[in-house]
Amino acid sequence: MKSISGVVSVFLLSLFTVPFVFEVSHFHESASGFRRNLIASPGLFNSSFKAHNHHSVKNFEPLPSGLIEESCKAGAITHKHVHQASTENCSQAHLRKSRALQRYKNDLRNGIVNSVGFCDVNSLDARTFRKREHILSARKVAKAHAKSTTWMAQALDTRKIHHSWGPLMEECTFSRDSVPFNSCHASTIVEIEKDHFLVAYFGGSKEGAPDVKIWLQRYKDGYWSSPIIADEEPNVPMWNPVLFKLPSNELLLFYRVGQEVQKWSGCMKRSFDKGFTWTERHQLPPGILGPIKNKPLLLENGQLICGSSVESWNSWGAWIEVTEDVGRSWKKYGPIYIKNETLSVIQPVPYQTAKGTLRVLLRSFEGIGRVCMSESWDGGRTWSYAKPIELLNPNSGIDGVKLRDGRLILAYNTLSRAILKVAVSKDDGDSWHEVMTLEDESGMEFSYPAVIQASDGNVHITYTYNRTQIKTYDL
Ligand SMILES: *[C@@H]1O[C@H](CO)[C@@H](O)[C@H](O)[C@H]1NC(C)=O
Ligand SMILES: *[C@@H]1O[C@H](CO)[C@@H](O)[C@H](O)[C@H]1NC(C)=O
Ligand SMILES: *[C@@H]1O[C@H](CO)[C@@H](O)[C@H](O)[C@H]1NC(C)=O
Ligand SMILES: *[C@@H]1O[C@H](CO)[C@@H](O)[C@H](O)[C@H]1NC(C)=O
Repeated sequence: MKSISGVVSVFLLSLFTVPFVFEVSHFHESASGFRRNLIASPGLFNSSFKAHNHHSVKNFEPLPSGLIEESCKAGAITHKHVHQASTENCSQAHLRKSRALQRYKNDLRNGIVNSVGFCDVNSLDARTFRKREHILSARKVAKAHAKSTTWMAQALDTRKIHHSWGPLMEECTFSRDSVPFNSCHASTIVEIEKDHFLVAYFGGSKEGAPDVKIWLQRYKDGYWSSPIIADEEPNVPMWNPVLFKLPSNELLLFYRVGQEVQKWSGCMKRSFDKGFTWTERHQLPPGILGPIKNKPLLLENGQLICGSSVESWNSWGAWIEVTEDVGRSWKKYGPIYIKNETLSVIQPVPYQTAKGTLRVLLRSFEGIGRVCMSESWDGGRTWSYAKPIELLNPNSGIDGVKLRDGRLILAYNTLSRAILKVAVSKDDGDSWHEVMTLEDESGMEFSYPAVIQASDGNVHITYTYNRTQIKTYDL
C-alpha cells in the first residue's frame, strides 16, 4: 500500500503544477492515504487560502491581499468578475475561448504555469478547462488508488473517492447581449453523446409574455451554438421545456403552451437525428401536461414516469403521468399532496429506490419551507401523502438524479433563490448531506436547476442565471 501511495503522490505532483484547492478539502474527508500525500507536498497549496475556500469558489470575496495571487493560480475568480466581463458577442467569446484553450494546451505541453495570464478575468474558459483537467486526473488517481487497495469492505466508501465534488467547469451558454430575448428561465439538458449536449429553455421579453418561445442550444466540440427557436406560437407564451433521450436515441422535447399557468396545454416534439430536426408540434391529450419541469424516469418495463403538477386557484398538487408508448397514450395517477394543505407540492423529481419503490421529491408552496417526498409501493399507481424532508426549499424548482453508483443528488434553493446548493443522499433520500454551494449572492436569482449524469459519470447542472442567462455547472 505504501508504494501505491508513493506512486499516487508522484503522479499528482508531476501532473499538477497548479493547486486544486477546492477538491483537496473533499479528499480530506474521504481518502486518508491521499490526504497524507497531499499535505506532505510542499507548495501544492497554501493552507490559509484553502481555509478561505473550503466550500465554494464563491465564498471568499474580499481576499486578504497576498492571497489574491494564490487565488488566481487556483482559478478562483468570483462569478461576479466573470459575468461582468461577459458583454462580448458570440464570435468574440468563441475566439477568446479557443485562444485560451490553445494557450492552456501550450502551457501544459511546456510545463509552464502562466498564472498571470489566467488571472485575467476574461479567462474563465481557460480557468475552467484547467480545473477540469485537475479534477478529472485527481479522480482517476483516486479511483486507481481505491482499486488497488485491498479494502473491499470499504467499497461503499470508495464511491466518495471516485466522485470528489468540485466544479469541473462553469459557464453561461450565451453572452448577455448576444440573444434576441431579455429574459429566460426553466432550462433542461440532455446528453446526445459524449461531450455533446442539448439545452432548452423558454425565453422572451419576460416570463408569461406573449413572445416567449422555446429555445434550443447545442454544446459540441467545446462550444455552445447560438440559440435557435424550437417552437413558438403567435401571442401565446410557452413554458418549461423538458428534454429526454430514449434508449433508441429518439429525443423527446416536452413543453407547455398557454396564456397563463392555469391554461397550460401539454405539447411535445420528437427528433430522430440528435436534435437537428424536429417533428411538428404534437398536443398531448386533455388534462395531460407532460413532465412539468423535470426529466421523466424510464422504468425497465418501458413505462415513462413523468412528474407533473397542477397550479390552479388555491390548489397545488402533483400527478404522475405514465406513458408506455413514449407519448402516444397516457394514464395519470395522483394527486400527490400534503395532507390538509390545499396549496402543497408541485414539479416532482421521480426516481426508483434500491428496494424497488418509486419516490418523488417535490417543490413546496411558500411557508412549507422544505422539499417534500412521496412514495409509491405499486409502481406509481398510488402515492403516499407528501411529507417535508430535511432539505430547505423556498417555493422554488428543484431537480436531481440517481447516480449510477446508487447515490441520489439534488440541486435546490435553500432560503431564497439567491442560494443554490447541491446535496447527496446515500439512502434514496432518507438522509442528506450538503456537498456544494453553487451560488450564493443576495439580489441575484439562481433557480430551476436541471441535473443529469453524463455517460462519463460527470454531473451536469444547468440553471437560470438571474433570469438573463442560462448557466451550466459541471461537477
Ligand atoms: C499562504 O500565503 C499567505 C499570503 O501570501 C502567507 O502569508 C502564508 O504564510 C502562506 N501560507 C503557507 C502555509 O504557505
Ligand atoms: C462581434 O464583435 C466583433 C468585434 O466587435 C465584430 O467584428 C463582429 O461583427 C461581431 N459579431 C457579431 C455576430 O455580432
Ligand atoms: C386535518 O384536517 C382535519 C379536518 O379538518 C383535522 O381534524 C386535522 O387535525 C387536520 N390535521 C392536521 C395535521 O392539521
Ligand atoms: C439580477 O437581477 C436583479 C433583478 O432583476 C437586478 O436588480 C440585478 O441588477 C441583477 N444582477 C446582475 C448582476 O445582473
